[in-house]
Amino acid sequence: MKFKRNIIITGGAGFIGSHVVRLFVNKYPDYHIFNLDKLTYAGNLANLKDIEHKPNYTFIKADICDFDKVLEIMRQYQVDGMIHLAAESHVDRSIKDPFTFARTNVMGTLSLLQAAKLYWESLPEKYDGKLFYHISTDEVYGALELTHPEGIKSEISAHEVYGDDFFRESTKYTPHSPYSASKASSDHFVRAFHDTYGLPVIVTNCSNNYGPYQFPEKLIPLFINNICQRKPLPVYGKGENVRDWLYVEDHARAIDLIFHQGKIAETYNIGGFNEWKNIDIVKVLIRTVDRLLGRKEGEDMDLITFVTDRAGHDLRYAIDSSKLHRELGWKPSLQFEEGIEKTVRWYLDNQEWLNHVTSGDYLKYYQEMYQGR
Ligand code: NAD
Ligand code: TYD
Repeated sequence: MKFKRNIIITGGAGFIGSHVVRLFVNKYPDYHIFNLDKLTYAGNLANLKDIEHKPNYTFIKADICDFDKVLEIMRQYQVDGMIHLAAESHVDRSIKDPFTFARTNVMGTLSLLQAAKLYWESLPEKYDGKLFYHISTDEVYGALELTHPEGIKSEISAHEVYGDDFFRESTKYTPHSPYSASKASSDHFVRAFHDTYGLPVIVTNCSNNYGPYQFPEKLIPLFINNICQRKPLPVYGKGENVRDWLYVEDHARAIDLIFHQGKIAETYNIGGFNEWKNIDIVKVLIRTVDRLLGRKEGEDMDLITFVTDRAGHDLRYAIDSSKLHRELGWKPSLQFEEGIEKTVRWYLDNQEWLNHVTSGDYLKYYQEMYQGR
């Protein structure tokens, strides 16, 4: 069958990538979706069990840093779109091992850009109908102040906000962690390929995602798991850092919309208008898990353990995603309370997935299955 479009989604076995792959495979049966993933500790094909047999889905085990292989794949499958999510994504790991972050996030992105450029330039229609869509983070913008430490109601969203300032598309990049520095660098390369060679690109910068299939090293799934098992909850510093949270399926919907209707060379911020202090999220998680497990609501509050702060810990992230709302009509569909309830239920109902991931069993399983391919 000839497909209308052939699209590579990198990092499709990871948390956000698996939601994007699922959405595209189900919504666009006339597109062929190639999930290109190296299957690091964060990539798990069990995240895509429900769609893996669909005729418009193909998994390719590959490292984005392997330029020759990426170029060969692009030519072989006549790829006309790339949605790039593959990355090392955890700040704490980047503090311990910055080299891996520079390699994957910077060199890997550069290798994809160069492969896309060479292949598309070799075609008679060149860049017509092509798109390199790079998924990035709000962390590249740095950190905001807590000018309202107790929070005030926002006029736009009726949610608490903790400061006067927001990250906008025009905000200067000031990354602080090796993770955000590597993502900032990759964003610059993407824009440089547009400005220098005319490569059709779009960049989006999104706030913290949460939802099913997130690796339990990030705050929300780690703490849900620990509450279930009555293990300590390591809250960094005083728990006063603020993050803006977005349900992962809302991010996937935004990516779909921007991939199809976004303007070439534009940047779009994606966020939930949903700021929370870490300590307040932790309390919501404890109450929700306790209630759903039939425990007395709040009885696990004593699991909260304040630990040494993360080095260079950014105080507040808050994103202004009004451009995306104004220009393309996107807004988050879920209220946070609803999203958290759904998320906690999912982790409680998918203990097997969680055990598998925390024991690392799946790594051995899939790595053996794709050995040498
Ligand atoms: P994740 O860590 O869950 O998944 C990353 C995926 O990339 C994994 O499947 C992994 O196997 C794959 N990968 C890693 N290195 C690779 C390589 N060298 N070659 C091929 N594949 C490789 O990450 P995530 O949380 O789903 O984030 C996806 C993207 O979204 C990242 O670019 C991240 O910077 C960005 N982002 C994440 C968030 C968030 O809250 N998680 C927010 C904004 C932006
Ligand atoms: P995380 O999920 O790692 O996302 P990011 O660092 O990309 O924002 O962390 C979210 C917030 O939770 C961040 O302020 C750090 C904090 N945190 C803890 O307090 N304890 C933890 O064990 C983790 C993983 C995070």
